Amino acid sequence: EKGGYDHFMLKEINEQPRAIRDTLTGRISEEGDQVIFDEIEWPAGFAEQIDRIHIVACGTSWHAGMVGKQAIERLTRIQVDCEVASEYRYRDPIVTENTLMVVITQSGETADTMAALREAKAKGVRVLAITNVVGSSAAREADDVIFTWAGPEISVASTKAYTTQLIALYLFAGWLAQERKTPFASELPSILSGLKQLPELASHALQTAPAIEKFAKNWADKNHAFFIGRGMDYAVSLEGSLKLKEISYMHAEAYAAGELKHGTLALIVEDIPVIAVVTQEQLYEKTLSNIKEVKARDAFVLAVAFDGDEEIAKSVDQVISIPRVNPFLAPVIAVIPLQLLAYYASVVRGNDVDNPRNLAKSVTVE
Ligand code: F6R
Repeated sequence: EKGGYDHFMLKEINEQPRAIRDTLTGRISEEGDQVIFDEIEWPAGFAEQIDRIHIVACGTSWHAGMVGKQAIERLTRIQVDCEVASEYRYRDPIVTENTLMVVITQSGETADTMAALREAKAKGVRVLAITNVVGSSAAREADDVIFTWAGPEISVASTKAYTTQLIALYLFAGWLAQERKTPFASELPSILSGLKQLPELASHALQTAPAIEKFAKNWADKNHAFFIGRGMDYAVSLEGSLKLKEISYMHAEAYAAGELKHGTLALIVEDIPVIAVVTQEQLYEKTLSNIKEVKARDAFVLAVAFDGDEEIAKSVDQVISIPRVNPFLAPVIAVIPLQLLAYYASVVRGNDVDNPRNLAKSVTVE
């Protein structure tokens, strides 16, 4: 049932090219210029009317939302907030009839996320759910549903659910731009063609596994790590850090790279592992200077960067190269080596990878 893999997690990491492809299937027009979402049945005029989007989720799904926020804002210029459900549900959020709520939940059963959904519905807010489970509570109770077609995710640590949530969010951002006829809709054909390349690029990214396994063997006795990045790379860092914590039990923190100097540099000492994600063109120089800051303090820097990035290669201790992709879509590819890093660190440390301590696959209590 593990398809020849030692753990479900590794099987599911390797299923991502297929899962991404399935989540795209039928949702891009033949001409490659339109997103098709027949499952969204909004009242006439609603797409134009929305002036605020609240993305609400927990854990890894919240991290997907952090990428989705940036994608939707960029393509639609609608203001998007992205918040963890356990906070959102208790703070009496300000909503109007022009607010859209997007809940993201792999299982469709997470207690806090469902409570937030119910709270919003009670206030008359239209809710769109992005979920992986047909027939789940979220799928039944939301007004509209986008299914991710990751297939059953058995490993507690979420991997293919995350990348397919990203795909759903990119498609939704593009669809909303198209429905609202924003000027950014003109970028759609190039984004859609980029999305179609992702299954193949994900396969390439999976080939980083042997190098990461080797790295993990020398590294897994560390007890702390920092993940840094800016923009979408920061969102990916959050996910890489959570993955490492939850299955390797190493302490990790993700930092917006520009925030390091506001206190955290005190912890950057010799040999502390810093994992830098560097895929965002417009932020490249800024992240590079943050890398130099931590190198000046003798941190050990592992960078996730694009193939052929010589500048990064000479500035860090080790590079994990990922195939070049439109930076807007890079999180889908950049997260893969981070998933593998968490996986191999957990294996080397002798942990129960698929069933980490203190975690449940579906958190149905608050
Ligand atoms: C992390 C993980 C959790 C879940 C979170 C939300 O790998 O699995 O953080 O992402 O409990 O679960 P769903 O998406 O089912 O609402």
